[in-house]
Amino acid sequence: MSSRSRLSIVAKDVVRVIDGRRILDGVSLEIREGEFFSLLGPSGCGKTTLLRCIAGFDRPDGGTLELDGVDLARVPTHRRDLNMVFQSYALFPHLDVFENVAFGLRLAGSSSIPEKVREALDLVSLAGAERRKPATLSGGEQQRVALARAIVTRPKALLLDEPLGALDLKLRKGLQVELRRIQSMLGMTFLYVTHDQDEALSMSDRIAVMDGGKVRQIGTPDAVYRRPADEFVARFVGAVNIVDREGRRVVVRPESVRLTESSDIVGAVDSVSYFGARSLLRVAVGDATWLVELPGAVGRSVHAGARVALAVDWNEAWPLPEGAS
Ligand SMILES: Nc1ncnc2c1ncn2[C@@H]1O[C@H](COP(=O)(O)OP(=O)(O)OP(=O)(O)O)[C@@H](O)[C@H]1O
Ligand SMILES: [Mg+2]
Repeated sequence: MSSRSRLSIVAKDVVRVIDGRRILDGVSLEIREGEFFSLLGPSGCGKTTLLRCIAGFDRPDGGTLELDGVDLARVPTHRRDLNMVFQSYALFPHLDVFENVAFGLRLAGSSSIPEKVREALDLVSLAGAERRKPATLSGGEQQRVALARAIVTRPKALLLDEPLGALDLKLRKGLQVELRRIQSMLGMTFLYVTHDQDEALSMSDRIAVMDGGKVRQIGTPDAVYRRPADEFVARFVGAVNIVDREGRRVVVRPESVRLTESSDIVGAVDSVSYFGARSLLRVAVGDATWLVELPGAVGRSVHAGARVALAVDWNEAWPLPEGAS
């Protein structure tokens, strides 16, 4: 992705009011062509509503949405050059894999349908499954079919609403890598919705962190993780210590804290959670609790109740902007 590339989806001050509630409260974002852009936020923050407005299943009450410079208010739903992938796959149960993928092509009166379907199924590693019915496929395979069906018509952008949400962790991790590979290969714009911060951090070029119908921050995964705009973002994208230092609220990630011989931060270990590669300690220091991440083997040798001294790598700490909530 080059920073000079053209804009794909643009939202300007989008408002959606349902039953008197501002579900989208002035959302603005600019997604570049070919970008993997994620909407990350807690349940109910308006992610699906924004996607539905872009796709045309819902209409904003204010603001504008554009695709490739064209105001979407003037483009009927079925003319929008977009496809959507849902958590629930939404395959046609009576059609086999081939016909599911071919559906949009037939509708558009496309030529070379068998070649295009084969290419799409190759891309999602499902070659050979053409004649199977959705009910005979695993959840992960069904989602691959849904993806093939969505990309086969080569839309300008793909809207993905928690597409991996129904899959178990291991499958999800594998498909995250694969989705990213497919997106890069096609150079297609992906707008990806998730409430899983690890997923957003590992897959995205940029992330918009949302809460309560508003965008809190837009930035690269590194920026939202290491330089959060406010306390909400800091807490939502990962475990965090927020401490007062020299009159400022400062974000310290647990991996920037280690055990040391002596320090002015001394406390008692509350708990040790062992995750194999890493361990997470909760350390009571006065009234505060510090989270400390250590390599797994180091954490294993620490026991609840132990007195420990903490050293903070203040170079990695991030003062929250003044006035940030
Ligand atoms: N048609 C509707 N009628 C009433 N309320 C609605 C409607 N659509 C959305 N809402 C409300 O708008 C808010 C945002 O919903 P939305 O589905 O956009 O959230 P979300 O961020 O996608 O959440 P999740 O992560 O749980 O999918 C919720 O409180 C929801 O109940
Ligand atoms: Mg949703």
